[in-house]
Amino acid sequence: MLYSEKVMDHFTNPRNVGEIPDANGVGEVGNAKCGDIMKMYLKIENGVIEDVKFKTFGCGAAIATSSMATEMIKGKTVEDALKLTNSAVVEALEGLPPVKIHCSVLAEQAIKTALADYYTRQGIDPTPFVGELKDPDEEHLACER
Ligand code: FES
Repeated sequence: MLYSEKVMDHFTNPRNVGEIPDANGVGEVGNAKCGDIMKMYLKIENGVIEDVKFKTFGCGAAIATSSMATEMIKGKTVEDALKLTNSAVVEALEGLPPVKIHCSVLAEQAIKTALADYYTRQGIDPTPFVGELKDPDEEHLACER
């Protein structure tokens, strides 16, 4: 399987790994088929993502996409972060093999789940902002490690 240099870089040297103890948006998503789990921590102040950290127990592509996704939302507003799609992350990584696209869905979902948690903690219904979350299993039919 061929990975781009960017994927290898983010896989071997992932950015923003860890936890934020006083995070005000936390999201955890998992994929039932491969068992990979991703946890995302957001520190949001005045509607801006001041800090973001993640922990991924998963394949290399899941680690690379979470790393890139956190870089892409850091310093952005909540509204902008909600617009981040898995295809934008894949593009920033200069592509992923087709059987690995579902791993990037996990990253998008983890961010959306953490943002939904942020709204919920403030007593706001997240559904109008975050929408329905994609089921990563749908795109996980050809999971090959
Ligand atoms: Fe990468 Fe399933 S998340 S193999």
